Amino acid sequence: MAMASRDQWSGRMGFIFAAAGSAIGLGNIWRFPYTAGESGGGAFVLLYLFFVAVIGIPVVLSELAIGRTTQRNPVGAFKALVPGSLWPYVGGLGVLTGFGILAFYAVIAGWTLSYLYGALTGVYGGVLDGEQSLALFTELISDPTMPIVLSGIFIVLTIIVVRGGVSKGIERVTKVLMPLLLVILVILAIRSVTLPGGVDGLVYLFKPDFSKITISVVMSALGQALFSLSLGMGAMITYGSYFPDKENLPSAGITVAFFDTAIAILAGLIIFPALFSVGVEPGAGPGLVFVVLPSIFGSLPAGQLFAIAFYALLAIAALTSTISLLEVVVSYFVDEKGWSRNKSAWVLGGLCFVLAVPSALASGASPMFTDFLGTGVDFLTLNNNIWGNYSLSIGAISLCIFVGYKWGVPNALASLEASGHKLPAPALFGFLVRYVCPAAVGAVLIYVIVTGNYF
Ligand code: TRP
Repeated sequence: MAMASRDQWSGRMGFIFAAAGSAIGLGNIWRFPYTAGESGGGAFVLLYLFFVAVIGIPVVLSELAIGRTTQRNPVGAFKALVPGSLWPYVGGLGVLTGFGILAFYAVIAGWTLSYLYGALTGVYGGVLDGEQSLALFTELISDPTMPIVLSGIFIVLTIIVVRGGVSKGIERVTKVLMPLLLVILVILAIRSVTLPGGVDGLVYLFKPDFSKITISVVMSALGQALFSLSLGMGAMITYGSYFPDKENLPSAGITVAFFDTAIAILAGLIIFPALFSVGVEPGAGPGLVFVVLPSIFGSLPAGQLFAIAFYALLAIAALTSTISLLEVVVSYFVDEKGWSRNKSAWVLGGLCFVLAVPSALASGASPMFTDFLGTGVDFLTLNNNIWGNYSLSIGAISLCIFVGYKWGVPNALASLEASGHKLPAPALFGFLVRYVCPAAVGAVLIYVIVTGNYF
């Protein structure tokens, strides 16, 4: 295959921004706070941080190592390393998971577009209390057409970037906008923490109440750690495959994990103090961030300006994540099926839009999808769980077993250190990949299956 023509990041920073762009998104700002709120706060946060350190970092490094060595999409990567084996199916599950996640993620991303529009037209200018804010949110998500149209717009934006190729499209956007997002988040966190009653939010977020830990909470924390870092479906295999040979891969991977986690905590510092201040329940569910945030903007000087900047940046952060989801799927069809980038992006993006429709109707517009098959769970939440928690966990454990026992830790280390830059604590990496990750993820999955606590 003509590897010379394969796209590459412009350098280490280019990769860091693109990978951070993939990792940082709605997972940090929407999914983390609402999941933490549903899971009782501090104890969940502690577990999440534990999983990031013990499972997230070794898996990021493993994925990047595979990507760098093989220069392929997830399926092609396994085919290259162990031809004729069943391992490529792990990559195949990753490609499928990319579809599954994108199909509900685009719906939430669509909601952010509506909030951006609302900010531009001044809907969130005045001070809104929790009830007014909830009413606006409910009106949006239960509308039968708006969420479909918005997720469609979002997918088209994603297609346009992905069809343009990786380094040109993704790098340029993230380099400028990710730092700006960080600045806005810091300002909002300061405002939120200093709101009357804000301290209660900090206590909720950081004081662990271990009696809140159930198997579902452990599963959610594991899923959240993987989801937030874009792990378990090969996104980092794909991004690692564009990594330049002479650059320091271990440090780039660890830097991305650090920033992603910092941004999630920052989002917690924004949402929880504000939520106690306006009197919204922490367990309010997927609408949490959307309901709570307008109240902060209302209490800020130049609030409308902040609202516009925030929702624009949130939409862009979501876009750099949807790009990575579609990129995995597209790179598979380009490398393995010989499709053109343009055709892959439009056909597969289009298919994703079709799959997004039921999720877009799952918040009230369609009774069937709102309580899917009488499970008591809506279709969007169901997909969020299946693809975002279970499928990623299965992907992560398979990957660790692959690196630990099939490909081998020495090969992974050689790939990570190919440029001469050393991985700090390589023995710890091997220990985590071979023993800790498979045991921990395996134990959680088995416990969930045995106890039947799927949600
Ligand atoms: N990590 C992104 C977020 O937090 C979502 C995402 C993008 C993702 N690509 C992924 C999740 C690949 C899992 C796998 O918003």
